[in-house]
Amino acid sequence: MSGKILVLPGDGIGPEIVAEALKILEALREEPGPGFEIERAAIGGEAIDAHGVPLPGETLERARACDAILLGAVGGPRWDGIERSIRPERGLLALRSGLGVFANFRPAIAWPQLAGASTLKPDVVRGLDVLIVRELTGGIYFGQPRGIRERDDGRREGFNTLVYSEEEIERVCVVAFDAARRRAGRVCSVDKANVLEASELWREVATRVAARYDDVEVRHMYVDNAAMQLVRAPKQFDVIVTSNMFGDILSDLASMLTGSIGMLPSASLDVSGKGLYEPIHGAAPDISGQGVANPLATILSAAMMLRYSLDAPALADRIETAVGRVLDDGLRTPDIESPGTTVVGTAEMGDAVVAALRPHTGHNH
Ligand code: IPM
Ligand code: MG
Repeated sequence: MSGKILVLPGDGIGPEIVAEALKILEALREEPGPGFEIERAAIGGEAIDAHGVPLPGETLERARACDAILLGAVGGPRWDGIERSIRPERGLLALRSGLGVFANFRPAIAWPQLAGASTLKPDVVRGLDVLIVRELTGGIYFGQPRGIRERDDGRREGFNTLVYSEEEIERVCVVAFDAARRRAGRVCSVDKANVLEASELWREVATRVAARYDDVEVRHMYVDNAAMQLVRAPKQFDVIVTSNMFGDILSDLASMLTGSIGMLPSASLDVSGKGLYEPIHGAAPDISGQGVANPLATILSAAMMLRYSLDAPALADRIETAVGRVLDDGLRTPDIESPGTTVVGTAEMGDAVVAALRPHTGHNH
């Protein structure tokens, strides 16, 4: 493994969970091999406080110069009141867009050890392995025009634009179908083609791409039905491909099938496979600074980073195995606690994963 990693801890619980992922990366770095460099930069509220903008030009430049980026989370009540165009979340969106990371992989895997932590019946979620491929740099998140304007009668209206080009739909569908080939070979494209023109085109293009993949089974589903089906019988899905906003919503929903949003990592890739890696949860200001946040989504994001951007799949496997061992040992942060388990804090969880990384610590698994 070799390469340069840019770490963007961000706001809220971001710095706490990123610190744990760094412990794991540092532990792996001590091992023989080409190694990698780790740099830090500011984004979100931290960058607003220091530079007046949520994505300083320097952060974007350094992100472009790196092989991979590991991000914590952005945002918090402190910055809610500031001018909309420079809020922390805009920094994250500008980073995704500036890096061109249009394909966002959000795997929702039900760890067997956490079957009791899901709000759904264990039988419904046992063995679940769904990959949500969310389009990340287009759609209503970025469409112009957007804003809040005053009408002639003095009342205001808010407006956004949902726009998708054929190329944008096609490239993310190709990524999803390629991914399905390496998995169970089934893609469900989720849209709202019964109401939205942008979705009508989405379905048409998805159908066209599907025709090039004889070996992959395709289905189309309206997003309302998909939300219902994900809770009713989630194991019917293999790969779900969908637009930016539908993917945002469905991935939060899917995370609860696994027990906690604190378990879901993500990888966002550009055309060449360069990536931005972040947990799917946000800055969680309600628990930040308390040392109770679950660092596993970030640690698992670091594993995805090693696999997809740093060409170190064996190290990624080791991290994922280590997380499994720690869960086997019954360690849980409060969000995944269930009867008979041991509740630990953020740092203890990170330390436990580091310890479980080492094959010869006398670990009995
Ligand atoms: C996510 C988050 C972000 C999004 C926010 C923080 C802008 O919810 O990554 O899912 O909506 O994309
Ligand atoms: Mg979200």
